[in-house]
Amino acid sequence: MKPVTLATLREMKAKGEKIACLTAYDYSFARLLDGAGMDLIMVGDSLGMVMQGHDSTLPVSVADMVYHARCAARGIQRALFVVDLPFMSYQQSPEQALMNAGRLMRKGGAQVVKLEGGAPMVPTVKFLTERGIPVCAHVGLTPQSVHQLGGYKVQGREEKAAEQIRKDAKALEAAGAGLIVLEAVPAALAKAISQDLTIPTIGIGAGADCDGQILVLQDMLGLSPRTPKFVKNFMDGAGSIEQAVKNYVAAVKSRAFPGPEHTY
Ligand code: KIV
Repeated sequence: MKPVTLATLREMKAKGEKIACLTAYDYSFARLLDGAGMDLIMVGDSLGMVMQGHDSTLPVSVADMVYHARCAARGIQRALFVVDLPFMSYQQSPEQALMNAGRLMRKGGAQVVKLEGGAPMVPTVKFLTERGIPVCAHVGLTPQSVHQLGGYKVQGREEKAAEQIRKDAKALEAAGAGLIVLEAVPAALAKAISQDLTIPTIGIGAGADCDGQILVLQDMLGLSPRTPKFVKNFMDGAGSIEQAVKNYVAAVKSRAFPGPEHTY
């Protein structure tokens, strides 16, 4: 079994093959997802909400991320493994980002680190990638900025805001990002960005034209108290968690998910 790399994902984009991604935070689920054919597994800082019960991702520490990443990493043989830099672990300076990215990679087994933000993060992405740290960027709805954004709201609806997100995505790619998450943006904007960039875009609430799709595991298993419009409950009628995850992979690959009802 050939491990998935950033190069594999770029080839998939070039061939028009959709990239299936989910979050996982422990060994058992990471192993199940990996066995079901997931291309990318992410330990997101969403663990603050779905594992720890907080109402945002802000309380999550680097130590929390390292702990969950180390557990999940043991379950993965094939998928590319991405781990989030949590709130305030990289915003201070590129050097702070480098130190904490190093911890996620050395202690947590991360293969790629993810950070949130547009233009202000460009120097940090450049600094990390020039030093051999693969980076996944994240624009649109950036949950670590929930209080600045005034809630978990769709981003880029107005033309000016859409143009800024488009420019940010281009700049992050030029800075060396190997992947980019587009969260809660109109499908038309995500489509334009996906066509603009050579790196793969991974959408969450960003429509069917992204190069890949990601959801929070607990959301797609119907375990979360509130789920946004872009989530589909794959447990409905699946009979087992394993089957639900396989159905998700198949739905992403065949472009059956996301449908218009999951799209802004
Ligand atoms: O924190 C997270 O899990 C994420 C993904 C859902 C993209 O950022």
